[in-house]
Parts: sequence; structure tokens; C-alpha cells
Amino acid sequence: MKKTYKITILPGDGIGQEVTREGKKVLEKIAAKFGHTFEFDEATIGHAAIEATGNPLPDESLAKMKASDAILFGAVGHPKYDNDPTAKVRPEQGLLRMRKELGLYANLRPIKLFDELLEASSIKPEVLRGSDILFFRELTGDVYFGERGRKDNGDTAYDTMIYSRYEVERIAHKAFKAAMTRKKKVMSVDKSNVLESSRLWKEVVNEVAKQYPEVTLEHQFIDAAAMLLIKNPKAFDVVLTGNLFGDILTDEASQIAGSMGMLASASVGDTVGLYEPIHGSAHDITGKGVANPLASILSAALLLDISFGMKEEADTVIKAVEQTLKAGFRTRDIADANTPAANILNTETMGAKVLEFI
Ligand code: NAI
Ligand code: MG
Repeated sequence: MKKTYKITILPGDGIGQEVTREGKKVLEKIAAKFGHTFEFDEATIGHAAIEATGNPLPDESLAKMKASDAILFGAVGHPKYDNDPTAKVRPEQGLLRMRKELGLYANLRPIKLFDELLEASSIKPEVLRGSDILFFRELTGDVYFGERGRKDNGDTAYDTMIYSRYEVERIAHKAFKAAMTRKKKVMSVDKSNVLESSRLWKEVVNEVAKQYPEVTLEHQFIDAAAMLLIKNPKAFDVVLTGNLFGDILTDEASQIAGSMGMLASASVGDTVGLYEPIHGSAHDITGKGVANPLASILSAALLLDISFGMKEEADTVIKAVEQTLKAGFRTRDIADANTPAANILNTETMGAKVLEFI
């Protein structure tokens, strides 16, 4: 019997709602074109979930996700919490708990550069051309999950950077395996000249590397890596790093691709995979219909590829995005002075163009 694939749609907050709608349409179109059966179920998380239930990640949402084959996620966040650092319940708590509960310990961020957008980046085209980077950011450890608190009547605050051997091992294996299918280069990024958790990180990565003799391993400190990424992005292949350093480096790398609105990510572990744009809920443009849906659409492509093994279907989506850009269509964030006004599309019409090309 033919398999029915269950997909949880998790739009979240702000433009998460707007872009995930377009990502879902792409999955529906692919199902129709290739004769697959995708069953969709929607779940809540973040601010919307707090308003409805008081909980940023209701158990019902988690149960739906655990019962599905893949999750297409938008983003969480609301200005209310950004302006109130003392809020007890926050949307990001839902995000962190979801990653932990689903065991999503590896965040993959391909920095895919479309030739049509070379000019949209603030970096020179000749520096960028040919860049193709795959980040592996550890997602369930590090300072985001270490012990934290206040002392001295609140005048001293601390967060603990912490890693265990098995946490480094499992993501290192994923990165080296991916490198085997690419240019066979891994750059491990840490701060082992200062931090003990980084010294363990480096030790473990060196051990794992022995099992992949064909892969060239290079170590860089986070500060140097941040500099090299802008200086010569072409020299990067697979980058392996911890949660905090990965958070920062991948936002920096988003400028290589021109816009936050272009970058997709996959979070995987031992069970269900979760796919989301790297951007947040973007309060500044929420409700205006101008959000770029391509990051969500490219996240849907990653979902097809990684969770369902549908390589051809995934390539069809990526190609359709390429053709949309080649035909000159842009959302506002990737348009430039030479883009004719008629070619500047909104979230929905951009999504519709991609559907046409599929
Ligand atoms: P953001 O990624 O939402 O926005 C940064 C800038 O990029 C903004 O100027 C925004 O307009 C622009 N941008 C982002 N996505 C875009 C798209 N698809 N099309 C066009 N322009 C786009 O980051 P920001 O503003 O720092 O955070 C906003 C909220 O999102 C906060 O509450 C934050 O906590 C949350 N956030 C959530 C994330 C998640 O759910 N994974 C990740 C990052 C932030
Ligand atoms: Mg970030």
C-alpha cells in the first residue's frame, strides 16, 4: 500500500503564519504532481499558543508533532515579550522545549546562493560567486540549556556553557557524513583557546574525524571563523559548531545569500525532522504581506529531501525558485534599484509564481 505522509504545519507567530501558508501550498502542489499522499494537521506554538492556553507549547501540539513524519515550522515571537525581559512565560520557551522534546539536536543550514541574487548581497559578487556552505549547528546543548541564574541580590547573572561527549559525537558524525557527499572538508569552530567546553568539543571532533580519513578537518576559533566567512566564503564547505557560535555565524552567513528571507533550515535528530526558515517572526513587517516566502518554500524542499528521501521532488522546488528569480520576480527584501515595480511581488503572489514553475 502507498504510504501516507503526515505533516504537521506549525505556523507560529507573525510572518511565520504568512510564509508557512506558501510553504504548505508547495507541498500540496508537489503531492499532486508526483502522486504522493500528504496529510496535513495544524498545531500551535509561541505567542498564539500562550494567548489560547497559557502554554507556549501545549501538549496537544507536541503529541501531533510526535505522531507526524515531518514538521513545517514558521517562527515564534511577539514584541510584547521583547519589551518585557521579565515576562515569565515566553514564546521562545516553546521553541527550546520543542527542540529538546523532539531530540532535534542538529540544525542544518545550507547557504545556497542563487546567481540571480549576487547583487542583492552587501558582499562583492566576485567574493561570493561559487559559495556553497552547509552549517551543522548543535541545537540542544550549550549555554542555552546550561545552568543559569542570578546572585548577589540579582546584581550578578550567569549562564553556563556546557557540552557532553555524546552531544558532540552525534552531531560530528552527521557533519562528517554530509562532508563525504560534498567537498570532503569540515571546519570545526570553537573557542578552545579559552573555554573548557570547547576543549572537549575539539577533542571529540578529532576522535570522530579518525573514522572519516577522506575528510580534511580544520579547526578555527569562532572569532577567526567569523572574519574568514566574509573574507573568503568560497573556502568553506561543511561547518560544524555549537549552539551559540552557530546561532551567530549562520545569521552572518545569511548575508552571503542576500537576505534572511532566502534561508531554510532543517533540524534533525533521531526521530521526526523539523523544517523552518532561519528568520524570526519579523514584527516590523507582520501583516503587510511583504514577507519573502522563499525561505519557507526552500524549507519545504529540505523536508522532502531529508525526511522523505524525495530528491527529485526537492530539486523540482529548488529549480522552480531559481526560475522565479531568473524570470526577474522579487519580494521587496531581495529587490534592487533595477527591479521594475511590476516584478516586486508580495508573499502570496511570489508563492503563486513558484507554484506556476513547479
Ligand atoms: P527576524 O528574523 O524576525 O527579522 C530580522 C529582519 O529581517 C527584519 O528586518 C525582518 O523584517 C527581516 N526579515 C526576516 N524574515 C524576512 C522575510 N521572510 N522576508 C523579508 N524580510 C524578512 O529577527 P528579529 O527582528 O530579531 O526578531 C523578531 C522576533 O522573532 C523576535 O521576537 C525573536 O525572538 C523572534 N525570532 C524567532 C526565531 C524562531 O522562531 N526560530 C528566530 C529568530 C527570531
Ligand atoms: Mg538566530
